[in-house]
This record gives sequence, structure tokens and C-alpha cells, in this order.
Amino acid sequence: ENSSNSKIKQLYEQTAKLYHHILVNTKLGEEALEYLHQRGMTDEIINDFNLGFAPGVDILETFYKEQDIYDYQILRKSGIFIERQEGKLVERFNERVIYPIRDESGKTIAFSGRLLKNDPQAPKYLNSPETPIFNKRKVLFNLDRAKGQIRRNKEVFLFEGFMDVISASVAGVENGVASMGTSLTDEQVYSLSRISNRMVVCYDGDTPGQNATKRALEIVEPTGNFTIEVIDIPEKLDPDEYIRKYGAVSFKSVVDNQRLSPIEFYLKYFENGRNMDNESEQAEYIDDILNELAKVKDSVQRELFVNRISDRFNLDKRGLEQKLVTLTNKVT
Ligand code: GTP
Ligand code: MN
Ligand code: MN
Ligand code: MN
Ligand code: MN
Repeated sequence: ENSSNSKIKQLYEQTAKLYHHILVNTKLGEEALEYLHQRGMTDEIINDFNLGFAPGVDILETFYKEQDIYDYQILRKSGIFIERQEGKLVERFNERVIYPIRDESGKTIAFSGRLLKNDPQAPKYLNSPETPIFNKRKVLFNLDRAKGQIRRNKEVFLFEGFMDVISASVAGVENGVASMGTSLTDEQVYSLSRISNRMVVCYDGDTPGQNATKRALEIVEPTGNFTIEVIDIPEKLDPDEYIRKYGAVSFKSVVDNQRLSPIEFYLKYFENGRNMDNESEQAEYIDDILNELAKVKDSVQRELFVNRISDRFNLDKRGLEQKLVTLTNKVT
């Protein structure tokens, strides 16, 4: 690996240490530490994930000079700064809680910073930009820590948010990862397929989360590399909120016992925004379900769901089967 990249990594390592120190040991970090405590994060979790705080005062350049790692070109490339004009760097992260993003080997390669108070004028989360060491499409938050447990359990949990990954891990679901606030990518799915063949999609229970679940299914299912299950978190909560409200035991029971197959997920999903008492909307709904069912290879599963639709809408089974065959010929 070239020396410029290892210098950028060293910069992240040292900066993460400084941000962590500021959070846990200094007055500047008090409010952020209180924020994390309020969110149920213990000092042990804060240490394990090396969470930090970027204060609203410029400290980094001085710090690097003290550490003897100041190199303008490296600072510029790191993404820890924004170059306002040539020769002038300003710190990218201000008054944000810092979540270090690590690569598979555990090296910090980026930061995500969260505001202490939601503000409509500013993004809630701010990430490092793409750099020579950080490719958003490839990185999964927590993969370094989760890898062992993913192998042992033979399955991986996908979450939307960093807090979901962290809270689930504390609640005993240690095989969880999250993408970088963007939709799941082919590269991420590929890297997971090398260590697991079962995936549990555990996104937020709200509408954006359900839409993201559908997108994830559309990316993962065609690879044929995974058996996929979906968790529908009750009350439109996200996993972190659910754990805070109902506790770890209840969360474990939801993720162990309330798993949906993709088709079961779609049975609920396609009702969204539809008036199910209206016949033409019913017909659209059934079309949507049959389209998904056409992708299912297992004949028993197909029959089960055909039966369910036939019972629910009082439709002739043979008509549904015929339609399904036509659709299946289209997708294969
Ligand atoms: P908390 O409010 O801290 O619990 O965050 P959350 O994870 O519940 O956030 P949310 O459900 O709103 O969004 C899911 C994920 O999308 C987050 O974890 C982030 O990775 C990402 N995200 C949310 N807001 C932003 C944003 O403003 N900018 C970027 N780049 N990513 C965001
Ligand atoms: Mn406290
Ligand atoms: Mn959300
Ligand atoms: Mn969320
Ligand atoms: Mn949340």
C-alpha cells in the first residue's frame, strides 16, 4: 500500500483518539457525552465503538503539529477538512458526535458526525467524502466487529443506522452491519456473500425504512446468494428506538420469532397507499403480489401464497395459477 494512504489512515487513527478523548475527558465534550448517555449509551459502549466529539473550535492542525504528523497534502486528501480556498483548510466536523467508520480490518477510514440537536438547516449526519481510502459503496459499518459473529450464526443483520447497529449489538444481536446512509450496493452485498448466505433485513419500521427494505430485496434477491428474511419493527419504530422502549429481551424475541419471508413482507408492503375495499386497487395489489411470487422458485411456497390470495379475495385458484405461470415465463 502506498505511503500516502497509510498516512491518511494514521491521521484518522490519531484524530479518532483525540475526538474520543475530548468526548470522555474534557469540558468541551460534556454536552455530547450527556447526549449519548441520554440515548442509553454506556461508557463501555462509547469506548468499544470509540465514539468521539468534534468540538466547534479548530484544534486539529495544532494537534497534528504537536504529534509531528502535519502534512498539508495529506490533510487535504483526508476529507477531515474542507479546502475553502487554496492553502486554507477548515475542519469538516463541528459540534458533532463522531462515529468512526472502520474497514474490515478495523482501521478507521472515515467519520460520520451527528448533530446533537436536529436542525432543519443542516444534515443530521455528515460523512467523510470519498477519499483514496474511503469508498462508500464498499464499506459496511461494524463489519470488522461483526464478522466473527456473522460466521458463527451463519447470518448477517442489515440495519439502516449506526445507532441501530450499536444498540442491537448491546442487546445481543452482534452480527449487524449498516451501509453508509445510502442504499445497499452490489459491492456490499458481494462482500457479505463471502461470509454468509442468510440475511435478515432489519430496517426502520417507518415508510422510508419499508421502501428501503424493498430496494434491498431487489438488490439481494437476484444474486441468488442469500436466503432473506425481513423484520417488521412494530409501531414504525427503528431498532434503536424499539430497544429503548421495550428492552433487549423483547427485541431479541421480535428478531428471533417475527421473521417474514420476502413475500410475506410484500403482502403487507403493497397494501400501503391502497384502499383495499376498492376492487380495481385490489386487482393492482394482486398483480403486484403475483409479480413477486413469480420470482419464487419453491413450488410449495407458491401454492401457499396462491391459496392465501384465493381465500382472501375469494378468487378461483386456477385463474391465479394461470396468471402466475404467464408472469413466471416473463421473468425467466
Ligand atoms: P438517529 O436519529 O441518530 O437515531 O439516526 P437514525 O439512524 O435513526 O437516522 P434515520 O433513520 O433518520 O436515517 C438512517 C440513516 O441514514 C442514518 O443512520 C444515516 O446513516 C443516514 N442519514 C440520516 N440522515 C442523514 C443526513 O442528513 N445525511 C446523510 N449523509 N445521511 C443521513
Ligand atoms: Mn450522564
Ligand atoms: Mn429512518
Ligand atoms: Mn432510524
Ligand atoms: Mn434512530
